Amino acid sequence: MEYTLTGGTLVSHGTKAHTGDLNIQDGRIVSRRGSVSVDLRGESYVYPSLISTHDHLQGNYLPAVGPQPGTFYLTWLPWDNDLKASETFRERSQLTREDLYALSGYKCLFSGVTTVNDHFPQKINSAILPTLPIRAILEYGLAHECSSYDLKWGDGIEVEHKRAVENKWPFITHLCEGFDEESMRGVETLESLGVLDNHCLLVHCISFSDADIKKAAQAGASVSWCGRSNMFMFNVTAKVRKMIQAGVNVTIGTDSSATGSENFLAELKYDRNLYRSMYGEDLPAEKMFEMVTHNAAKALWMGDRVGTLDEGKLGDILVLKAGNDNPYENLVNASMENIELLILAGMPIYGEMRFLDILGGTLPSGYTQIKVSGRPMFVKGDPAGLYSEVRRKIGFKKILGYLPFEDN
Ligand SMILES: [Fe+2]
Repeated sequence: MEYTLTGGTLVSHGTKAHTGDLNIQDGRIVSRRGSVSVDLRGESYVYPSLISTHDHLQGNYLPAVGPQPGTFYLTWLPWDNDLKASETFRERSQLTREDLYALSGYKCLFSGVTTVNDHFPQKINSAILPTLPIRAILEYGLAHECSSYDLKWGDGIEVEHKRAVENKWPFITHLCEGFDEESMRGVETLESLGVLDNHCLLVHCISFSDADIKKAAQAGASVSWCGRSNMFMFNVTAKVRKMIQAGVNVTIGTDSSATGSENFLAELKYDRNLYRSMYGEDLPAEKMFEMVTHNAAKALWMGDRVGTLDEGKLGDILVLKAGNDNPYENLVNASMENIELLILAGMPIYGEMRFLDILGGTLPSGYTQIKVSGRPMFVKGDPAGLYSEVRRKIGFKKILGYLPFEDN
């Protein structure tokens, strides 16, 4: 498959946004023009598609579960207990694990995310992740949290970290998600085990001290900031401005929708507002763009494959309607209805019907048609069938806000 998107504004790390052609061949971005071309008519921005560095794909069922009104948690542990006792959990238990993962795949797709980390042991997710319409990475080492009372995921911190180093993978763990003595020692724990380095993708980090921030920066570690989840559970989030100023590689995750934003685009808006309320100034939209593309690719040790529009990278592309003169503001303020086209490794997986020429002019097998904000769209798989099946199993017309399509 080879094709060219012409007449769009290309937006990528390291270059000024400019009008140009984007050529795709055999799944990758190339310099040679393709035999099929689609004209974006100067009305669209072309970005690398988005990367969410933290989610739990079994947990994207709604509504969210949190502390009693007017209270907040000290650690994640009471939340886990509340979740398991909740109506949300009871309801979602009527679905299969495959159903829940498929819903999450579409949560990502409909918000422009083509790469995500499902923070969960590979023993449980490795058979399901390849079935999703987007890329949920399989190559990572992990721990649940690095505390004595954590959920003991994986083969232990040192073994998982060593595997990550040997394979050039990230080592991903929740860290400092709480304010008990042990949570607050997270960085010391990693240091004492000799694993605090640039493979570490540390999730939440809400109780980081200034010294922890400095150590994380010096080690070259990355942080996944999940603002909505943090505020919902703890009424406080990471010291993001200090982390950025210190040189920490900051990225963004939704966490699961059981505590985080409904989807990734909602998370961007939430985090922008949160930053403004914390610091009285804007987190520059261009900085946020970097966090969800280039920085996130680096954090996942995928910078050689995704995160920019450079030649040779995989064709992971998000095309948004240009509704703002500033392409970065356009992204940060985007909603699901602004997505015109989403491409995974050169293959369009969701888009307006005018892009169907790339797929040969007719709806290929394995795709279906849906309607989003009045626009007929093609999509990989059958999200409408999934939604119907979920509603049948639950027994009523459940609304999951991250599925934007209209009922047929
Ligand atoms: Fe999490």
